[in-house]
Amino acid sequence: MGRASAQRFASRGDRIILADRNTDLLEESRRSLPNPDKHLGLAMDIADRYSVEAGFSVAADEVGELDVAILAAGIVDYHNDGPLEKVTDEAWERLVSVNLRGAFLTAQAAYRLIAKRNTSSIVLVASIASLIGQKKLYAYSAAKSGVASLARTLAMEAGKTGVRVNAISPGAVATSMTKDVLQYSKPLNVLGRAGQPEEIAAVLYGICDPDASFLTGANIAVDGGAAIY
Ligand SMILES: NC(=O)c1ccc[n+]([C@@H]2O[C@H](COP(=O)([O-])OP(=O)(O)OC[C@H]3O[C@@H](n4cnc5c(N)ncnc54)[C@H](O)[C@@H]3O)[C@@H](O)[C@H]2O)c1
Repeated sequence: MGRASAQRFASRGDRIILADRNTDLLEESRRSLPNPDKHLGLAMDIADRYSVEAGFSVAADEVGELDVAILAAGIVDYHNDGPLEKVTDEAWERLVSVNLRGAFLTAQAAYRLIAKRNTSSIVLVASIASLIGQKKLYAYSAAKSGVASLARTLAMEAGKTGVRVNAISPGAVATSMTKDVLQYSKPLNVLGRAGQPEEIAAVLYGICDPDASFLTGANIAVDGGAAIY
């Protein structure tokens, strides 16, 4: 989703700063953008404060401020996050550390760097797991609910600066994260199919459009209607 979003914003001429802990994927993503040399890839582990601050400090040197920040990195674990008895401390710590602490650290760093004007926008990628129950995803669901809450709290602080802060909650989307599960089960939603990363990118793009100027503090389901079941 992060890559598709970067492509969407780059296609209108924006300069993109990508961050990922996987440097091969990072370079692949950068190369997939129009005029790749215009954009910057930063190796970053979002769960590690030092890594986040070092990365954002390079970003600050490069661009000074950000107009848009999309915080999309995350992990899921379909094997060790349920049933309850089977959730290990290690799995809980890892999932919460990347998905929630990572969102907190990157939101903190992004908020420092975001231009404090009413065309700026931060979007945190939560999950449908923040809206409805997800079997055997204990830590993931708790973390993503925390991400939606983080977006609301930051929206309250940021409001006076004009910066809008929202969360989106995707349902099943066909990405590397879900490729193993989606090949065995069809997602339960109104449209009867998984979403494509480009369909999430389109919503992220719309949320960040300055014309969406009254939208802040929301957690928007982008899920083919899954949350209405
Ligand atoms: N795919 C879905 O169905 C779905 C549904 C709901 C929510 N989400 C959320 O959407 C976001 C994007 O997921 P995706 O489906 O594009 O998955 P993805 O696996 O394609 O992308 C996630 C990216 O995050 C990076 N990442 C993981 N841990 C990191 C860390 N510690 N530091 C920096 N980068 C790290 C990975 O290297 C990967 O490139 C995630 O937050 C995910 O939880 C996905």
